[in-house]
Amino acid sequence: MANTILVGAQWGDEGKGKIIDVLTEQADVVVRYAGGNNAGHTVWVGKQKYVLHLIPSGILRKEKLCVIGNGVVVDPIGLVNEINGLAKLKVKVTPKNFVLSETAHVVLPYHRELDSQREVLKGKNKIGTTKRGIGPTYGDKAARVGLRMIDLVDPARLEEKLSRRLKENNEVLKALGAKPLSLKQVLADYQAAGKTLKPFVTNTVVLLHEVMRRGEDMLFEGAQGTFLDIDHGTYPYVTSSNTTAGGACTGSGIPPHRMDRVVGVMKAYTTRVGEGPLPTENQEISDLLHGMGREFGATTGRPRRCGWFDSVATRHATMVNGIDDLAVTNLDGLDTVETIKVCIAYRHGKKRYDFVPNDAEVLAQCEPVYAEFEGWRTPTDKCKSWKQLPAKAQKYLKAIAELTGAKLYIASVGPGRDQTIFV
Ligand code: IMP
Ligand code: MG
Repeated sequence: MANTILVGAQWGDEGKGKIIDVLTEQADVVVRYAGGNNAGHTVWVGKQKYVLHLIPSGILRKEKLCVIGNGVVVDPIGLVNEINGLAKLKVKVTPKNFVLSETAHVVLPYHRELDSQREVLKGKNKIGTTKRGIGPTYGDKAARVGLRMIDLVDPARLEEKLSRRLKENNEVLKALGAKPLSLKQVLADYQAAGKTLKPFVTNTVVLLHEVMRRGEDMLFEGAQGTFLDIDHGTYPYVTSSNTTAGGACTGSGIPPHRMDRVVGVMKAYTTRVGEGPLPTENQEISDLLHGMGREFGATTGRPRRCGWFDSVATRHATMVNGIDDLAVTNLDGLDTVETIKVCIAYRHGKKRYDFVPNDAEVLAQCEPVYAEFEGWRTPTDKCKSWKQLPAKAQKYLKAIAELTGAKLYIASVGPGRDQTIFV
């Protein structure tokens, strides 16, 4: 299947984890390239639920190599916990099936604390972050004052760098009215994590190029979604990394012309967690999905905001990511809906938009222009093939793929591996 980048075409939580898990069957290596443990990828294998935050979802298939690339920010304590959690569920994470870039930046406790404090300062303008310290860590990376994995695994260097950085950050924390952090404590915790993680840390750029020379297939696992991208999202209501397809190159060291295909994952409707504009947000569908026990965040447990499918947004995502193939997930979430709406344009005053305006304030005021589809009103979760899907569901899927401007490749009708229809 060659080298494939998989991205979220909406606001995250499109079901990327499940699709990655399914596609990993055909890949040799799975690479995470952006974000950190703000991500939450839920994967069901049989009756067992796995929630992954940093480790690529490919880890659930034996013999596959999972890689955290240089573009990811790593909370080492979180990562150690994740490895231990997986071990309890009988998933072995060893340096044979998991490696981690030595240039990936490290999330430190002051990043988490600053993330929280800045949200408080913003008051009603808060971003609604996951409070995992993601923004401040990428901020330090850009400001060239970050610590990287290569520093974490060297106890003496860690102490030297950390004591300098803690001094400055403690001043900032005090000024914000927060408690300063103890160097002794942070150092002890991080040196311990560094020791555990050291065997996994390597030059992943060289390793991935060796993989490529051997002709093995790589799958690049996007985190978050197109409209949370720091450049292309609804700034400032975004995360701090390039979640879009270009991020797969910078975040892994694989050049653009060696990428063969981009798969865009999108829900059959739209969700968003956190603040910021969501043009098709709708109470009725929110209540319906929450009532079914669906659409609660995998990382923070927050109820996700829900709305109708927004083809203006997904079309924009096709443009920015170069999406070739589409995986539509959660089709079964619409099984009971009588009339399904799809946003085909935005209206803002007299202006009609068929792309996503850059001004988040304008976007927040946009009124969706809807097309309506008749619901199929029959369960789809047991459908195993395209033929078994109700005709009205087929029509809906074809329509949203056409509006999005990419080829329909997968329809997912539930969390299970066997609830995946290749079209
Ligand atoms: P941060 O990434 O924690 O800084 O949060 C910034 C914005 O991105 C907030 O709106 C979060 O809710 C959102 N976000 C971050 N990670 C995810 C994710 O994995 N899924 C969905 N939303 C996310
Ligand atoms: Mg998620």
